[in-house]
Amino acid sequence: MQQRLHQFANNTLLVQALCERIATLARHCIDQRGCFSIVLAGGTTPHQLYQQLCHLSTDWQCWHIYFGDERYLPAGDPERNDSMALEAWLDHVAIPSSQIHRIPESDNVHTAAALYASVLAQAPGFDLVLLGLGEDGHTASLFPDDTQAANSTELAIAVTHAPKAPQQRVTMSPKCLSMATAVWFIVTGSSKRQALNAWLAGVPLPPHMIKPRAGIDIFTDQAR
Ligand code: 6PG
Repeated sequence: MQQRLHQFANNTLLVQALCERIATLARHCIDQRGCFSIVLAGGTTPHQLYQQLCHLSTDWQCWHIYFGDERYLPAGDPERNDSMALEAWLDHVAIPSSQIHRIPESDNVHTAAALYASVLAQAPGFDLVLLGLGEDGHTASLFPDDTQAANSTELAIAVTHAPKAPQQRVTMSPKCLSMATAVWFIVTGSSKRQALNAWLAGVPLPPHMIKPRAGIDIFTDQAR
């Protein structure tokens, strides 16, 4: 499966290039089908990108937002991935709230995963998935040695013993993430260099489970 590496001198240049690419892809999808569906990465890496996306000149009414994973915390908890995206971007643009598909709350993480899987089953497909990379090589909430996730036929999975707090999470499955047309990883900071190089060298880390037909693009500020 093809991996295309895009290297930038610094995070600012990377974010600027990503913004332009997302704007172009969104325009193409909206022109072709009247909608653009994007799956957001969690963590801290995409924060600056999300802030920049506020300034796009686009028809926000055509955008559909999904989340690659979510920390199983109460709605509004600042540590939730959707809280960061809302604060940095989504609260500042006119995407209809019904088109921001936050991972549902529930009385337990397994029910939350099942509810999200039913939302994903109704999605018109995913034009773009944005993903981060952890220092241990995890992505979304797919962690190394999680064979249950690797073999899941579900669209969303409950994670109960994540090595990265909180332990309970809901994540799109490798199967679901691989359905996307475009999959773009954002890997910035020297702390990610070892995981990135291991992945690119073929170490069987979670990103290897994600196999979109068009291959994967990796945007990084790290020299190889
Ligand atoms: C999460 C994210 C996770 C994240 C990586 C990188 O819930 O933490 O979904 O997959 O993308 O851990 O995190 P940073 O961007 O904070 O380094």
